[in-house]
Amino acid sequence: MALLPILRFPDTRLKKVAAPVANIDDGIRKLVADMAETMYEAPGIGLAATQVDVHLRLMVIDTSEDKSDLQVFINPRLESCEGSQSGEEGCLSVPGIYDKVERAERVTVHYLDLEGKKQSMTTDGLLAVCIQHEIDHLNGTVFVDHLSQLKQVRIKSKLAKQARVTA
Ligand code: NI
Repeated sequence: MALLPILRFPDTRLKKVAAPVANIDDGIRKLVADMAETMYEAPGIGLAATQVDVHLRLMVIDTSEDKSDLQVFINPRLESCEGSQSGEEGCLSVPGIYDKVERAERVTVHYLDLEGKKQSMTTDGLLAVCIQHEIDHLNGTVFVDHLSQLKQVRIKSKLAKQARVTA
């Protein structure tokens, strides 16, 4: 396994729309293993392939307390969204920035698992937020795109300052 570099907002590659996974082969299985390792090491609770500059519809999530529940979603598609919730979100591509985003409270997602089997999941709370956040990435959207223009400008300048300090 290998740690993968994570693209940082406002890198324009985060705006690419990912293509469906056609074939779940050894390359995809290795990518999933590397993405899981990268997510756990960061540490984070979700990572979309877009964030590691692979533009395929694939994401990994683990919202468990003890990092024991890795969930892999291939070609995920939101089938239904109900209600609303608003919580602080962060993103491994936007380090150190947290802000409130309005999301559906409950979602049903259809996807393929790592064996290529069709699956469907209905969930709410944090996992529902995470699923919506990661599917956004696959569509080229970062959570800060949901914030006001003024907040986006402030976030870009804060991240640019951070990059100068760490460079
Ligand atoms: Ni993210």
